[in-house]
Amino acid sequence: EKGGYPDFMMKEIFEQPRVVRDTLVGRMVGGELSIDELGLTMEELNLIDRVYVIACGTSYHAGLIAKNLIEAWARIPCEVEAASEFRYRNPIITPSTLVVAVSQSGETADTLAAIRDARIKGAKVFGITNVVGSPVARESDGVIYTKANKEIAVASTKSFIGQVVSLTLLALLLAQVKGKLTTGQVRMLFREIGDTAEQIQHILDTQEQAIHEAACACVDAQSALFVGRGMGAAIAHEGALKLKEISYLHAEAYAAGEMKHGPIALIDPGFPVIAVATRSPVYDKTVSNLKECEARGAKIIVVATEGDADITEIADHVIYIPVVRDAFSPITATVPLQLLAREVAIMRGCDVDQPRNLAKSVTVE
Ligand code: F6R
Repeated sequence: EKGGYPDFMMKEIFEQPRVVRDTLVGRMVGGELSIDELGLTMEELNLIDRVYVIACGTSYHAGLIAKNLIEAWARIPCEVEAASEFRYRNPIITPSTLVVAVSQSGETADTLAAIRDARIKGAKVFGITNVVGSPVARESDGVIYTKANKEIAVASTKSFIGQVVSLTLLALLLAQVKGKLTTGQVRMLFREIGDTAEQIQHILDTQEQAIHEAACACVDAQSALFVGRGMGAAIAHEGALKLKEISYLHAEAYAAGEMKHGPIALIDPGFPVIAVATRSPVYDKTVSNLKECEARGAKIIVVATEGDADITEIADHVIYIPVVRDAFSPITATVPLQLLAREVAIMRGCDVDQPRNLAKSVTVE
């Protein structure tokens, strides 16, 4: 059932182009973006003036990406919070608050408890889940299914991509309803999301060797830092989580601009710094942070945009991804970091599908 792949994680990483396509199916109806399972009318959606994305682990990282998109496109304030934190404080919730609960399994205890709490306080709740009929789906006002199909490897890969695509659609819908984007703009952006399926395929087809070399540079390290800015910072968080959970190598993610406020003290010769520095408005700023790491002898691995030859001046290893709009870069730039984590884990002799101490579904608090 691994379909010829050595492990489920690899199989699931290679399914990601399909997940992008399937998550988009049926969403553009007569030239209009439509998510009718949301269970809210356009009028109700238009009233929303605050969004909380609540989730755990990898799903929380999808939320970091959603925050950027919802605020940039729909201009609605959006916070992302770990469900285990959200439920124990007293967040500001009114009838015009939308809570978006993101959960692959649809049964994570803290996320479910946060949903129940938010509804009692009067919020509207959308669930984004991979499991049809799961508690998150049943207990939310509306639901978007991520179409990843069953995910077997404990570390989440394809369902993360499904979550990011779903949240991107939600951000577009909110922007359209609020009149911040025209239907023409939404259609154009929707087409570009579809293009990421081929872009992921291209990464899978071309970057194996580059990823292997980058993995060799990390395998004997005690620790690794993942850095980026904006979308790159969110992607860095997911990259660090993947690496630590399956390879047991300590990894941390930092917004690149925060390096000089502490973590740069960690850098000594050979220390791996993995950067997401794709073409974006903050590209130059990220590169200058990398120069500071390079000056201290860090081993620098960069996920960069095809055609960026200059990056090789500071990078020891470069993994290239196709040109993509910054808003959609998480859909593609995360993929090489999943493969990097897997490669390091395999080299360290770890079971990538069943990492120690972890469970696929966390139904205890
Ligand atoms: C990491 C991973 C976990 C889950 C987290 C939430 O690869 O799989 O961090 O993302 O336990 O699970 P769900 O999304 O099922 O609520």
